[in-house]
Amino acid sequence: MDRILVAEPIAEEGLARLRAAARVDVRTDLDKAGLIAILPEYDALIVRSATKVTADVLAAGTRLRVVGRAGTGVDNIDLDAATRQGIMVVNAPASNSVAVAELTIGLILSLARHIPQAHSTVVAGKWERNRFMGFEVRNKTLGLVGLGRIGAEVARRARGLEMHVVAYDPVVSTERALQLGVTLAPLEEVLAQADIVSLHVPLIDSTRNLINAMRLAQMKRGAYLINAARGGVVDETALLEAINGGHLAGAALDTYSTEPPVGNPLVGHPRVITLPHLGASTVEAQALTGVDVAEGVLVALSGGSPHYA
Ligand code: NAD
Ligand code: MLT
Repeated sequence: MDRILVAEPIAEEGLARLRAAARVDVRTDLDKAGLIAILPEYDALIVRSATKVTADVLAAGTRLRVVGRAGTGVDNIDLDAATRQGIMVVNAPASNSVAVAELTIGLILSLARHIPQAHSTVVAGKWERNRFMGFEVRNKTLGLVGLGRIGAEVARRARGLEMHVVAYDPVVSTERALQLGVTLAPLEEVLAQADIVSLHVPLIDSTRNLINAMRLAQMKRGAYLINAARGGVVDETALLEAINGGHLAGAALDTYSTEPPVGNPLVGHPRVITLPHLGASTVEAQALTGVDVAEGVLVALSGGSPHYA
């Protein structure tokens, strides 16, 4: 019987699928050395985003045939090293798109109405009705960088809020964008037109620091940036300067270049809303993620290739 190591929490629904077909150990207590020490015993490894599946970790997996990523982004897995070792990498790409899109809408409205900041003042015993003047998102322009699964779900919801949506995505067709009620434009135009820019690209070589000082300067004065993609897509030092210098009005972040973002000056900034990487944290998304990654891992162990929506 195949042995599967689950190194980060996944939903019970997923564990049940795995247990029906393999011997499963859930070990969420392992540091890197601990993971390397026991990995030689396993045919499959399942992680979420905290475990860095680097080349040296993979090298310890002498009988490893598949790594399952319980989520979308695979930037915590060394894909080249996995390919060199003949280890398949599977993920659950469609499982959390709605969860991230709904969180993004929450962040848009939080920025527009200062919801977290206002909440903190009431908790602190203050009643500052004049301090938190907001704006309506109706008729404002949302700029999406990345119009894949999550970007498309955000677009649909933003259109429901009567926002104009412009997007940059090099692989999306004009027909697809039309279907979503989105206007495609080059990146600099999206940045220049949008009142709020939201990032929905994977962290890959070509998107690392994509939103740098030059790109931030191309954004409209007084605009906001949302990053619920990956911290590495934004130059955080440049973002802080753009906010402190008054070019941007603020930002909302779910992801950071280093997580947790210890010592990151964007955390605690009065014009920055910060969440602890909660995009996929809904009961529905986690159940789907657990099942999808379990099925992908089992298909890979049986010699097949998972099909993605
Ligand atoms: P997806 O693959 O469906 O879509 C990504 C899109 O980005 C694609 O259409 C691609 O063409 C586009 N893209 C790639 N490079 C680009 C560039 N330079 N400029 C503009 N567009 C570019 O992926 P998805 O499901 O939409 O997820 C996107 C990312 O969101 C994931 O890779 C992951 O890092 C992140 N994510 C975060 C959370 C969270 O908890 N905050 C949860 C899920 C996913
Ligand atoms: C993802 O890429 O799916 C997210 O980072 C979600 C997560 O792992 O929590």
